[in-house]
Amino acid sequence: MSAPGGARPARPDSRPWWDGAVVYEVYLRSFADSDADGVGDLPGLRRRLDYLVALGVDALWISPCYPSPMADHGYDVADYRDIDPRYGSLADFDALLCQAHAAGLRILLDLVPNHTSSAHPWFRAALADPASPLRARYIFRPPGAHGREPNAWTSVFGGSAWTRDPSGQAYYLHLFDPGQPDLNWFDPQVRAEFEGILTFWLDRGVDGFRIDVAHGLVKDPDRPGPPLGQPETVEVFRRWREICDGYGGRLLVGEMFLHDYDPVRAAGYVGPEKLTETFDFTLTALPFQAAAFRAGIQAALAATAAAGGLPAWVLSNHDLPRHATRYGGGPPGVRRARAATALLLGLPGTVYLYQGEELGLEQADVPPDRRVDPIWTRSHGRELGRDGARTPLPWTTHAPGYGFTTGVPWLPFGRGARAHAVTRQARDAGAPLSFYRTAVALRRQLRPQLGDAVVFLEAPPGVLALWRPLTDGAALLVALNTNPEPARLRLSGPVSPPAAVQVLLTSEPEGAGEAQRAPAHGELVLPGEATVWVRCERPAPSSPDARR
Ligand code: GLC
Repeated sequence: MSAPGGARPARPDSRPWWDGAVVYEVYLRSFADSDADGVGDLPGLRRRLDYLVALGVDALWISPCYPSPMADHGYDVADYRDIDPRYGSLADFDALLCQAHAAGLRILLDLVPNHTSSAHPWFRAALADPASPLRARYIFRPPGAHGREPNAWTSVFGGSAWTRDPSGQAYYLHLFDPGQPDLNWFDPQVRAEFEGILTFWLDRGVDGFRIDVAHGLVKDPDRPGPPLGQPETVEVFRRWREICDGYGGRLLVGEMFLHDYDPVRAAGYVGPEKLTETFDFTLTALPFQAAAFRAGIQAALAATAAAGGLPAWVLSNHDLPRHATRYGGGPPGVRRARAATALLLGLPGTVYLYQGEELGLEQADVPPDRRVDPIWTRSHGRELGRDGARTPLPWTTHAPGYGFTTGVPWLPFGRGARAHAVTRQARDAGAPLSFYRTAVALRRQLRPQLGDAVVFLEAPPGVLALWRPLTDGAALLVALNTNPEPARLRLSGPVSPPAAVQVLLTSEPEGAGEAQRAPAHGELVLPGEATVWVRCERPAPSSPDARR
């Protein structure tokens, strides 16, 4: 297959590239604007690619960039085989792929198969004629008793999941906005269409897909119970896996159960013949607390290992309040967020970062008259929605556009844009950006030497400590202390007593000294609210019996 995407970078070992990788979510609208319309675009991303190369990530997941009326900022797709003119053109996309691949970056597209836009030609035809065969590709139902909705399903964005069609004789289903009618995945034409869409982009050279609402595809309103998670969905993914395998293997990462996440259920969609991985949302719902993190990580490791898949860690994305804010905000929140990220980067599997977290961005307080998320509008302001996680990146210290745009940004910048600016952080060794660069580089450097085994150590309250064997017989110890004050960790089990310890990383620069002053007799001093990575010169036990 000759792809315009060009040659792909090689991996030093035989594992697939996503095993141990870091993927960066580009929320395209807010990344970099090249044409002064206030909306980020593909040429803007191309101009800033060096920044992502310097950050050291392996791949980019780009939020949907297809033609769209933007009822849900691109998650309402009107044409799956083109680029929205606000974001550029197919030629821009091909150029991006080529440039990214040449720089060693892979590209994942965001595939939105649960629903189309109401502006998609299929849905237009279905609405225009109540007798249209295209209606079978969506989920139309006659009204229930007294003309009411066919069932009690509600939209994730609030209100009923049903909207009456113009004929008045039927309702159509939309689990999200009325501008996002759900597809009927029992229909073979729908399945065939998406296989064609997958092939279209794979032929261009994309390295995989993030699958939106992956748990939701197959649903039957005539069955009792909630709409999501029907087993037939897995059949769809088996077919997609076959297609991807025909291209030498591509990453398929599913978004599942965002609000009601269950790692065991999610792992049912994962495996060598299904999805590569699904985002683990457990940690996004937890407080900054070592015991909770430990339980969440153990559950995810166990579920993915049993399924033969890999964990996919995430703390923030474009749908969630940023983790620095969830952990209290301000400098303490940013400090805790760095500690949590350093923990994730020390785990096997794939780590997903969200644009702006590397700058220590917090959830922005977007004024009501600038809010545009359908969650805000549909709930009539009762729910704030997700705009606060989606504000533009400040590249420079120059107001008002901060290097993001020379026009008016589609969402205002969060507070402290100047202090967070890339140009300012690039010169500051203590800034979040420097920490992210160091941590991501270290993960990459250690990757060929690290297996999947993860063994948890006994640790005092508020401390999570685990080690992973290195191929040279030493061990990597990763320890998170969620206590505000320093904690002492006794190096028990296989890493006790280490012949020597070497601190490789601390999430707080000033904490490095403390950890390094570790007493020689098998103890480490961990700084408060920080994570450290320590190399322990000690042969790992002969059978580190995998994940526990
Ligand atoms: C996913 C996306 C979210 C979108 C929704 C509907 O949850 O991440 O942004 O609104 O799907 O497509």
